[in-house]
Amino acid sequence: MCGIVGYVGKSNCLPILINGLKSLEYRGYDSAGIAFKNGRGIEMYKTEGRISDLQKIIPDPVPRAKTGFGHTRWATHGAPSSVNAHPHVSEGVYVVHNGIIENYRELKSELTQNGCMFSSDTDTEVIPQLILVYLREGLSLKEAIKKTISRLRGTFALGIMSDNEPDTLFAIKRGSPLVIGIGDGEYFFASDVPAILSHTRKCIFVEDNEMCILKQDGISLLNLDSDRAISIDERKVEINWTPDMAEKEGYDFFMLKEIFEQPEAVKNTIREWIENPQKLLGELGITKKIVKELRRLQIVACGTSYHAALFAAYIIQSLARIHVDVDIASEYRYKEHIVEKDTLFISITQSGETADTLAAQREAQKRGARALTICNVVGSTSAREADAVLYTRAGPEIGVASTKAFTSQMAALCLLALALGTCRGGLKTREAKSLRDNLAMIPSLLDETLKQNTLIEKLAKTLIHTKSSLYLGRGISYPIALEGALKMKEISYIHAEGYPAGEMKHGPIALVEQGLPVVVVCPKDNLCEKTFSNIEEVKARGGRIIAITNNPSYFRDKVDDLIEVPYTHPVFTPFVTVLPLQLLAYHAGVFRGCDVDKPRNLAKSVTVE
Ligand code: M6R
Repeated sequence: MCGIVGYVGKSNCLPILINGLKSLEYRGYDSAGIAFKNGRGIEMYKTEGRISDLQKIIPDPVPRAKTGFGHTRWATHGAPSSVNAHPHVSEGVYVVHNGIIENYRELKSELTQNGCMFSSDTDTEVIPQLILVYLREGLSLKEAIKKTISRLRGTFALGIMSDNEPDTLFAIKRGSPLVIGIGDGEYFFASDVPAILSHTRKCIFVEDNEMCILKQDGISLLNLDSDRAISIDERKVEINWTPDMAEKEGYDFFMLKEIFEQPEAVKNTIREWIENPQKLLGELGITKKIVKELRRLQIVACGTSYHAALFAAYIIQSLARIHVDVDIASEYRYKEHIVEKDTLFISITQSGETADTLAAQREAQKRGARALTICNVVGSTSAREADAVLYTRAGPEIGVASTKAFTSQMAALCLLALALGTCRGGLKTREAKSLRDNLAMIPSLLDETLKQNTLIEKLAKTLIHTKSSLYLGRGISYPIALEGALKMKEISYIHAEGYPAGEMKHGPIALVEQGLPVVVVCPKDNLCEKTFSNIEEVKARGGRIIAITNNPSYFRDKVDDLIEVPYTHPVFTPFVTVLPLQLLAYHAGVFRGCDVDKPRNLAKSVTVE
């Protein structure tokens, strides 16, 4: 989420910063800004849109400056606009930020009470305001920054410069990536290596709670916890990436990178609410009275987001005991729906721009429904038009196939189910706490699941010449079977059908023949034995069973291939079972020579009917 880049040296920094920002656009591209020191002071330009839009507002000929920084934004707090674009400034203190300041609301109210005026809706603006407060108390710029950092909760990689200390850049990190580039008489900071790779390969990867001070005559690195200087020579590394490799952080495709980003995406999505999901309802304007009177949820989405909606039906009905209807958006919009005042409409959309989902949301609102959207893109149409937004924090998803957006949607839906269940009184304190603890563990279980990548790659190789496949699951694993099949067909072009395992005998079992791959999602839950019977039925007809399970001893000798995933509470098993299916589709696609980031005939967001 967001990219930052800074430069201090002998060259004109503007082209360096602009090119650096362009290479970071994969991290976000809804608004951008730049600030640099000219002979008179600091000049700043910001705009909504892409780096090419920023270039249009920078005067021609491009000003000459030797110190500066820039930002490309993926909005999290405040819609994409030139006011919310970075840098944020307060009386000569300029800040660019990648991350989320979780306690910005309390800091903002404290600062407002002390007379500070805010001009943006961002969390970031509290940072220059706080620095200014401490400068006015008489601290040096460095000490004011350190004191400010000690007050921040959340994640950040920051670039800071000030009128006070010309030609000095400060770069600090906690939780968000930050790399320092060491050139010949010039120094850089950036969110990611591609921004500096055409200038230097000598880098320092900054660690949490470290501050780098960049000046024309050199850099220094400081550990903020111990207040001790760190040796630059000891930390300097030489990297051998090409710019393209670096943008994908060494992964061959964005899809694989995004699959591996899922632990972080889920962690970021639940971080703010996991301790007290009920707070979320207040944030969404859903009062206790509304929750108590709720009789029905209508959840609508397309594609992968529709599978998240099917997951929602299971988890919300089971934890909150509210009736849930799920519809594909393109179907919902033309149905005669009954929307009553005790109905809550929910749209799920990564992009917030899917035409069918937007039309369904508008239709529901026209009929008087209160609309909540679960969305990944701040300021998108669905977020702007809905009555309330629950944001997933997956960061930009570049690969056309939805992966980290899906698990983040499920994470957001778990929070909602926990909040509704607790508020309606169905979930007792102990059970709710245990579920919260289980959900909090999911990011580390996803990390563990990803260790199966090599095994899955080998398995995928055996599918290269497959023409068709089946995906089966029961209960909460049924949406995961559908999602696995969708991933396989869109990425590898192997035909794949997802089915509820118990429905096989009503038709699809006729497809089973010798060697047909049948992927069965069968975690340890109350339906395990039932699914086992379906496995026997397929085996009896020559099908090849690939089981995804956290119950290996039960299935090991009965199936052809087994991918083991970690144990978790049965309602959370979809998180660990879907990852192997994403990887299976990915590797099958790569082995078959497909362009997995841009599958044929598909677009990332479908803005037409
Ligand atoms: O942006 P949305 O979540 O509204 O997009 C919905 C579908 O177009 C999307 O999930 C699509 O199915 C993906 N290609 C699946 O990988």
